Amino acid sequence: MLSIVILGTGTIAKHLVGALSKVKEVRLAQVVGRNQEQLLWFSGFAPISTDFKAIMDADIYLIAVKDDAIVEVSRHIFDKKGIVAHVSGATPMNSLPMENRGVFYPLQSFTEGRPLDFRTIPFCIEAQKEDAAETLKVLAGYLSDSVSDVDSQQRKKLHLAAMYVNNFSNYLYGVGEKLCEEEGLPFDLLKPLILETAEKIQVMSPKEAQTGPARRGDKKTMKAHLALLHDKKQIELYKLFSEAIKKVYEEKL
Ligand SMILES: NC(=O)c1ccc[n+]([C@@H]2O[C@H](COP(=O)([O-])OP(=O)(O)OC[C@H]3O[C@@H](n4cnc5c(N)ncnc54)[C@H](OP(=O)(O)O)[C@@H]3O)[C@@H](O)[C@H]2O)c1
Repeated sequence: MLSIVILGTGTIAKHLVGALSKVKEVRLAQVVGRNQEQLLWFSGFAPISTDFKAIMDADIYLIAVKDDAIVEVSRHIFDKKGIVAHVSGATPMNSLPMENRGVFYPLQSFTEGRPLDFRTIPFCIEAQKEDAAETLKVLAGYLSDSVSDVDSQQRKKLHLAAMYVNNFSNYLYGVGEKLCEEEGLPFDLLKPLILETAEKIQVMSPKEAQTGPARRGDKKTMKAHLALLHDKKQIELYKLFSEAIKKVYEEKL
């Protein structure tokens, strides 16, 4: 049985506690956070406390606070014997000051109140000590079918890659929504296309899956598209993306 203390009461803390509470090999020893109101959400799952000086002993401490508070919070558990791991994609492991440190990073975009299937979420594990890495992997394996060793340098790149495929593409959905609105059309019309684009790359590479005028070198259509745009930023982005796509397929054009 692994005993776990969660530090933080935000989105990730809620998702993790919800998932860990279903694992019979895990005991949620405590949830500690500074936000009394948010802490109450956890009271049905584990003992709760706002006192960072009264953190219980546990096998694993998961720091689930915002990135720039990780170091500050970790100081409260500097003397604990258990493994201290943060759950951040962008924070190096060695920003934690203790020796028995690690990373327990679930690569997914979590939204409060939106349930996710944890079995499909990739967990990226790193630890200073080999036995700690094994323990974190065991814990991740209770939740997910996808557990990988990923060091801090690799995780930095992975986090950057995630920005492209998630944050930037989501921004582009917003551009699409705005263009639909300008013509009084529902964004729903684009949703099957969005789904097909995401499903297609499950079975082929993005390079193979790419379609559109830039890939075809269809200058007439690109010119017509540009004429429809008014926003300077959108014109710049259209040109940048088209150039970048064109370059990938240059040899074939
Ligand atoms: N959300 C995601 O999709 C996602 C995915 C993977 C990893 N992560 C990682 O998960 C961690 C938490 O992210 P989140 O999305 O759960 O953020 P969040 O919902 O904004 O929650 C942040 C938590 O940090 C606490 N906090 C902030 N400053 C603090 C301080 N100085 N001392 C103590 N607690 C403090 C907040 O408490 P208050 O309520 O009092 O402000 C809140 O409980 C981050 O490291 C993030 O990179 C997030």
